[in-house]
Parts: sequence; C-alpha cells; structure tokens
Amino acid sequence: MSANRAPNRPIVAPRFHHTTFTTLHLDEMVEWYSKVAGLTPVYHGESAAWLTNDEANHRIAFLSPPGLKLPVDKPHTIGLHHTAFEYADFELWINNYVRLRNSGILPFLTLDHGMTMSLYYADPEGNGVEIQVDTFGDWSTSKEWMSASLEFASDQLGAYFDPEKLVAAHEAGLTFAEIHERTRAGEYVPEVIPSDILLPEIY
Ligand SMILES: [Fe+2]
Repeated sequence: MSANRAPNRPIVAPRFHHTTFTTLHLDEMVEWYSKVAGLTPVYHGESAAWLTNDEANHRIAFLSPPGLKLPVDKPHTIGLHHTAFEYADFELWINNYVRLRNSGILPFLTLDHGMTMSLYYADPEGNGVEIQVDTFGDWSTSKEWMSASLEFASDQLGAYFDPEKLVAAHEAGLTFAEIHERTRAGEYVPEVIPSDILLPEIY
C-alpha cells in the first residue's frame, strides 16, 4: 500500500471561523460589536474577549496585550478593510439600520452591489463592518450572478444609496425587489457620493 499520488484530488477546505483584532479599547469594542451585530461575549476578560452571534464559540475576538501602538494612516494602509454580517431578510436589515441610526451609529458607505445591499460602518478603532442582505436570498444564485453576470463584470461597486430613502420606500409599501431594482437604477442616490471606498480617518 502507498499514499494516493493522484494530482487533482479535491482540497478538503476548512470552514471560515473567526477574525481577531488587536485593540486599545477592549470594552468599547465589545460594546460596539454587541450593539451593531448582536455579538455577545462568550468570555470577556481584562485583556481579551471572544464574541459570537451564532452557534460558534466565537466569531470575533479582541486581544489587548501591552505594547500596542496606534496605526499610522489606517485608511491608506493595507490589511483588513471590513468584516461582514448578513441578514436573511430585508426587513431585518433595514430595521437594524433604523435601530442603529436612532442610537447615533451611521454607515460611512452604502452600496447596492447587485448580489447584496450593504451598509458599511466603522468600529471605534476604524475597522470596517459591513451589514448586508443578499438580494437573491439564496447563496447559490447569488454566487452564480457574481461569477457569471455581465452586470457584475462591468461594475463591481454598484449603486450608492441613501438609506433614509430606502426606509421611506419601505414604509410606502415597496417590496424588497422593487427597492433593489430602483436602487440599481439610481433612484435613491445620496446627496453626497463618497469619493472612494476607503475607511474613515479615525487614526
Ligand atoms: Fe464585503
């Protein structure tokens, strides 16, 4: 007997599990992620915390060892741009926007990418957090559209929107499909279109 030398065996891929940040504001970060994406700490110590919002033991973690320094020009520095969380339905997604807006937390970037409608927030240390809703409501269709549609091939950024206009449209009784279609058609553009997709200048 000997090892299988077949060249094209499929890779058994591990599943993505969590992201860990270093931080100088541990408690503030725990509170913010809890407020924005419903993560609760599974363990919250003096210098580290592990949080989850599903069945995993943690999805986001924070480490705050001594000796950390502030980043220099974070928006223009390579590395992590954002982590993302997804709602399964539009109603929950827009309600979360309203809940956060009412507590003074607003997105710095809002885009309908085609396969998702996405709100991008900055956490207290300027890391991006995307809260999205899948416009197909089905990952395989969504993936297919992203991979094969001419629409995505010609524009990967998509349409900017003013979330308040979406709230108004939703309150007026428009369906998610109608709102998505009108957003893509540019009906809900914000007054000011961001000049780029960079993270906000916090440090
Ligand atoms: Fe994303």
